Order: sequence, then C-alpha cells, then structure tokens
Amino acid sequence: MPGTIIVAGIPGVGKTTVLQELEAVRQEKNVDLKIVNFGDVMNQLFKKQGKGVHRDHMRRQDIALQTRIQQQAARKIARMSGISSLVVDTHMFVRTVDGLWPGTPRRVLEALHPDIIVLIEADPEEVSRRRISDTSRERESSKLEDVRADLEWSRYMASVNAVLEGVPVQIVLNPEGHQKQAAEDILTIVEKMS
Ligand code: AP5
Repeated sequence: MPGTIIVAGIPGVGKTTVLQELEAVRQEKNVDLKIVNFGDVMNQLFKKQGKGVHRDHMRRQDIALQTRIQQQAARKIARMSGISSLVVDTHMFVRTVDGLWPGTPRRVLEALHPDIIVLIEADPEEVSRRRISDTSRERESSKLEDVRADLEWSRYMASVNAVLEGVPVQIVLNPEGHQKQAAEDILTIVEKMS
C-alpha cells in the first residue's frame, strides 16, 4: 500500500542533498515514489496570493499568514497522495520572529496522515560547517550550541508527531560524503512500508 513519509531535518543537515539522491536512486531502482517539498508548495501559495517572498523569508512573515498558508499547503499535498508513496520534505519546526513554530502541527498531521516520520541528522559540527559554507541560502546561526539545540528541538517535535499520529520515528544519518547511503536508507524505509 502506498504511504506517506514525512522527512524532516534542520537547516544545513543536507535534506535537499539527500532527497535529490533519493530521487536518483528511486529512478535507478524503478520505485514508484513522489517527493514533494512543503516549502516549495508554500512558496507557490504565497505567490498566488500576491505576497511573493524568497523561500528563506517566509519564516519572517506574519505568523497568522504563515499558519493559513501552511494549512493550505498541507491540504494541497494531501491531494497528491494515493497512487504512489509520497515523501513530504519539511521541517519539524521553523524559527519565526514569534519563536519556534511547529512545521507539522495537529492540523497539518490530520491532512497528511503520515505513516512514519524520518529525521535526517548529522554531526552538529558538520551541520555548522555546512551552514557556513552554503552561501547560496540565508541559513540560521552556525554556532555549535544553536545547531545542537535545533537537533534537540527537532526530536522533541518528532516525538509529539509520533504520539499524535501513533506512528514510528526513524533517524537517518547523513555523514560527510555519505548522502547516497542516507538516500538508500530512506528508500529501504519506503520499500518496507509498501
Ligand atoms: P526547505 O527548503 O525545506 O528547508 P531548508 O532549511 O532550506 O533546507 P534544505 O531542504 O534546502 O536543505 P538543507 O539545509 O538540509 O541542506 P542542503 O541539502 O541544502 O524549507 C524552506 C522554508 O519553507 C522554511 O524555512 C520554512 O519557512 C518553509 N517550510 C517548510 N516546511 C514548512 C512547514 N511544514 N510549515 C511551515 N513552513 C515550512 O545542504 C546544505 C549544504 O551541505 C550544501 O552545501 C551541501 O552540499 C552540503 N551537504 C549536504 N549533505 C552532505 C554530505 N553528506 N556530505 C557533505 N556535504 C553535504
């Protein structure tokens, strides 16, 4: 049965890199799987409503607006599920100007109904280095203590998701130079679910 997998990771952990590998590996192995980026869907919705913003600035918008768009995005993504398994690339939390805000609150979970939560993690020092070296994006603080705190918060939020939905959480590591292995680990999880 096709299922929905929420894949989350803190900024700089290498989520995009691993999911690009996942797309390549799933094509090689001919696995029926669709990957959708929650941020992309939100960004399109911002544009559609005449409030076009850079993806790294969405988290600085008014929280009520972000909440509305987040719910619309969740409903839109939910409509993509069914035929093949669906990987939803997102965040357990977003650092907004109002504080740390859940990426998958109850209403989002109720729309997506995930079968599993996968957290991509990496060594905090590696994440910090990746945040510094990736100049293409406006990243969060690269201080080691902030990266450690983000990794912890991600797990706290994932545990709430797991309890609310009654689903398991798995952690996939993305060590330096091993993004393909991380992608294969996620594909194994997807295949076990189907
Ligand atoms: P989104 O685009 O999903 O998030 P992001 O924080 O920008 O993270 P990325 O997915 O781009 O990837 P990454 O930082 O993990 O790492 P990357 O692969 O680039 O979301 C954008 C926005 O959408 C959010 O800020 C938020 O506003 C909004 N949003 C999303 N979901 C939401 C939700 N549910 N509710 C509300 N808002 C939501 O890699 C970084 C660097 O590391 C690169 O230089 C790469 O080459 C390097 N690297 C990666 N892996 C390795 C490796 N294994 N070895 C060596 N180098 C590596």
